[in-house]
Parts: sequence; C-alpha cells; structure tokens
Amino acid sequence: MMTQIKELTKDHLQALVVLEQACFAHPWSETMFQGDLESPLTVYRGVFSEGTLVAYMGMWCVADEGQITNVAVHPDYRRKGFAKQLIEALIVIAKEKKLTSLTLEVREHNEAAISLYEAMGFEQVGRRKGYYEGKEDALLMTLFFGR
Ligand SMILES: CC(C)(COP(=O)(O)OP(=O)(O)OC[C@H]1O[C@@H](n2cnc3c(N)ncnc32)[C@H](O)[C@@H]1OP(=O)(O)O)[C@@H](O)C(=O)NCCC(=O)NCCS
Repeated sequence: MMTQIKELTKDHLQALVVLEQACFAHPWSETMFQGDLESPLTVYRGVFSEGTLVAYMGMWCVADEGQITNVAVHPDYRRKGFAKQLIEALIVIAKEKKLTSLTLEVREHNEAAISLYEAMGFEQVGRRKGYYEGKEDALLMTLFFGR
C-alpha cells in the first residue's frame, strides 16, 4: 500500500468532508473546515493511500500553544499506525514553531483515542462536565514539550 502524508489545503475540502462523515456521528460541516483551512493559524495534514485521503489531523497554533482540533482515520484504515504518524508529524511542526504544549479534548468514553493519546505521552489535565450534548464529559489532555 503506497501511503503519503501531505499538507491539506482548500483543494482537499470535499475529500475532508467525505472522510469526516465516515468517521463521526457529529461531523464538522464544510463551512467549518473551509474557515479552518483558510486560517493562517491552522496546520492540517492528511494521509493519502493510493491517492485517497484516509486520515487527517488539524491543529490551531495560538501564541506558544497548539490545540489539536480533529483527528480521524477512515474505519477501513484503523490500527495501521496512521493516527500515530500524523501526531508525530504535528509534534515535529509544533517544535519547529517553538510551541510549549499540544492540547486536545476527547470524549471520556472514546477508549481508542484516549489509548492513542496516552501512548503518545499526553496526560489528562482537566475535565469538562457534560461538554458533549450535555451528557458526556470531555477530558482535556496535554503533551508538554521540554519536561
Ligand atoms: C482514534 C483513532 C484516530 C485512532 O486511529 P488509528 O490510526 O487507528 O490509530 P493507530 O493505528 O495510529 O494507533 C496507535 C496506537 O493507539 C492505540 N489505539 C488506537 N486504536 C485503539 C483501539 N481501538 N483500542 C485500543 N488502543 C487503540 C494503540 O496503542 C495503538 O498502537 P498499537 O496499534 O500498536 O496497539 C481512530 O480510531 C478514529 O478515527 N476514531 C474515530 C474518530 C475519533 O474518535 N477521533 C478522535 C477524536 S478526539
């Protein structure tokens, strides 16, 4: 399988929307991605398999902090290390930008994602009660650089 990690731009908007819908019960809309892809503060990377976008990750960089906004891998392409490769790529970029940490929010019952983030060195730093639909808590997880 030929795979490649590439920067995502507004040219990838449609592919991103299709992938997002395959991955989430509450997907981001085209408009949300459009605004994000056009912002100078965001970094998007995608994994392409045989030319098809199968995984992506987005990050906001504000002052010296990075916020991972989205991570998703198409259901047919999971457990192949793609999310790990994308996070590693973002870590390299974050360090180049001299960010001091990377933070994200994750549903408290999303065991796959929590395992992934823990394996990458993220630690739980907080909890937002009922953040998702008023029912499920969000865990705040951060990877600190230079500790
Ligand atoms: C969470 C998600 C991004 C993981 O992507 P992935 O490409 O399958 O993950 P990787 O193959 O890179 O896994 C790396 C490590 O994470 C952990 N992990 C990933 N999926 C896991 C699962 N289902 N159960 C337990 N651990 C898991 C493991 O430690 C894994 O290493 P291993 O395969 O050597 O055991 C993917 O399941 C997904 O897109 N889920 C739906 C969207 C989502 O929930 N996104 C996160 C929102 S915060």
